[in-house]
Amino acid sequence: MVTEYRHEPFTDFTIESNRQAFEAALEKVEKELGRHYDLVINGETVSTDNVITSKNPSNHEEVVGTVSKANQELAEKAIQSAAEAFKDWRNWEPESRADILFRAAAIVRRRKHEFSALLVKEAGKPWKEADADTAEAIDFMEYYAREMIRLKNGADVKSREGEKNRYIYTPMGVTVVIPPWNFAFAIMAGTTVAPIVTGNTVVLKPASNTPVVAAKFIEVLMEAGLPNGVVNYCPGSGSEVGDYLVEHPKTHLISFTGSREIGTRIYNKSSQVSPGQKWLKRAIIEMGGKDTVVVDKEADLDLAADAIAVSAFGFSGQKCSAGSRAVIHEDVYDEVLEKVIAITKEKTVGEPTSPDVYMGPVIDQASYDKIMNYIEIGKEEGRLAHGGNGEDKKGFFIEPTIFADVDPEARLMQEEIFGPVVAFSKAKDFDEAIEIANNTEYGLTGAVISNNRSHIEKAKRDFRVGNLYFNRNCTGAIVGYHPFGGFNMSGTDSKAGGPDYLTQHMLPKTISEML
Ligand code: NAD
Ligand code: ALA
Repeated sequence: MVTEYRHEPFTDFTIESNRQAFEAALEKVEKELGRHYDLVINGETVSTDNVITSKNPSNHEEVVGTVSKANQELAEKAIQSAAEAFKDWRNWEPESRADILFRAAAIVRRRKHEFSALLVKEAGKPWKEADADTAEAIDFMEYYAREMIRLKNGADVKSREGEKNRYIYTPMGVTVVIPPWNFAFAIMAGTTVAPIVTGNTVVLKPASNTPVVAAKFIEVLMEAGLPNGVVNYCPGSGSEVGDYLVEHPKTHLISFTGSREIGTRIYNKSSQVSPGQKWLKRAIIEMGGKDTVVVDKEADLDLAADAIAVSAFGFSGQKCSAGSRAVIHEDVYDEVLEKVIAITKEKTVGEPTSPDVYMGPVIDQASYDKIMNYIEIGKEEGRLAHGGNGEDKKGFFIEPTIFADVDPEARLMQEEIFGPVVAFSKAKDFDEAIEIANNTEYGLTGAVISNNRSHIEKAKRDFRVGNLYFNRNCTGAIVGYHPFGGFNMSGTDSKAGGPDYLTQHMLPKTISEML
C-alpha cells in the first residue's frame, strides 16, 4: 500500500547539525570535482574525445566535471537504443515502473545533501535554493509514481447493454527530454521520470551548464533498477544534437523546458513530418516568464515588500517564475519601494559557502553580460534605486538591482532578463495594475498583495497567468500542491507536478467489446 503523497520537507539550516551535515556533503563533493562522466547508451558508457566542461559559476578556476559530448552518430544510437528498449518497457506493469521511481526517490533522499552540495557547485545555488531543488526532484518521483498508479486502469466511460467499454492510457514511444540549467536537478529529473513511468523511453540531452548532476541522476536510475536503454544520457550541443533528436522520425514526444527562443524553434520543428515518421509528434514546451507582483493600496505593505524581494532575488532572479516586475498602486508606491530597498540592502551576495549567503552568482559569462547590459538599459528607462554593480573576476556576481518609475511598455518591463533585476511601475488604480500585469507576451506566474476581497476576485478572473498567488511571493511552486506551467508565450501549460501532467505523455485508447 502506497502512503499518501506529501512534499519533501526543507532543511532548517538554523539547526547546527544540519549545517554540519551540509558542510560534510560539500567536502565530499569537493573531493569528486573534476571527475569525468561518459554518455550512457543502452546501459553502456560511451567515451568521446570532445567533452563539455562544467565549471563552478562562483569560481572560474573550479571544474565541477567533464562529460563526453555526443555527435549526431551517437545521438542516432541513443534514439535506436530507446526505440528498442520501448518494445519491452511499454509492457511493464504501471506499478513496477512506479516502483523504480520510489526506489530512485529513496536513493536521492539518502544522499540529499550530496546532491544539493553539487548544485551549489554546478549551478551556483545558495544552500536553501539547492535544498529546495533536490526536494523538488524527490517530489516529482514520489508524485508521478503515485499518479501512474492512479491512472493505471484509465478513466471511466459508459457501456451500453451488450457491450463493455474501456478507456485506457498507453505509452507513446521515444521521448526526447531537453531541460534547462536553472532547476538543474528538479526539472531535469521531473521531465525524465514522467515519460519513463508512463512506459516511454527517453533520450536525455541535459543543459550544457549542468550536465554533471544529470549524469549522477542517471546513475541513480540505473541503481534503482531501470532496464538498459529506457534512459539514455546524451549531452551535446543544442544546435547539432538537439535539433537532430527533435527532428528524428522515431521521436514521438518532446519534453522541453527553457527559453522562448529555443522553445518556439523546437515547437516549429516538432510539427514537421520527417521521412519515415509514422505519427504526429507531441510537444510539451515550457518557456520563460516576465512575472509581476501587484500591490493594492489596501494591503499589508511589509508583506508586499517581502514578496517583491523574495520573488525578484531568490536564486538571483534566475527562475522562470521570478517576479521581475512590481506594479504598485500609486497611493502606496513610495512606501513599498522604500521598504523593498531596505530589505534588499540586507541581502548578501557571494559564493554560497554558508547558508547565510542569500544570493550566489549568475550562471555564466553570457548571462552576466546580458544582465549587465539590461542594467545599462534600465539606467535609460528608469531610475536606479538600488544596486546596479557586477563583478566577474572570480565568479559572476551581480548586486540585487531595483529600477523605479519604469514605463510599463519599457524593455525592462517586457523582456525576460533572468537575473537579479526588478522594475517598478506605478498604477493609478487596481484595474490599471491588472492591465499592466497582463501587458507582456508571457503568462507564467503572478502575485497579488491585497486585502480587498472584490479586487482578489477580479484578479482571479482577469490576471492571465498559469500560477496565480495571493498575499505571498510568485515563486516556489510545490509539486502536487501548485501544479506549474504558464499561458501564452510561457508555453503549453502542461502543469508539471499536477494531475493532468502524465496523461500528456500517453495515448488514450478506447476499447469496446460486444458481450
Ligand atoms: P535555453 O532555451 O537556452 O536551453 C534549454 C535547453 O535547450 C538546454 O538543454 C539547451 O542545451 C537546449 N537547446 C539549446 N538549443 C537547442 C536546439 N537548437 N535544439 C534543442 N535543444 C536546444 O534555456 P536555459 O538558459 O537553459 O534556461 C533558462 C530559460 O528556461 C528561461 O527562459 C526560463 O524562464 C526558462 N524556464 C522555464 C521554466 C518553465 O517551467 N516554464 C522552468 C525553468 C526555466
Ligand atoms: N517551479 C518553480 C517555481 O515555482 C520554477 O519557482
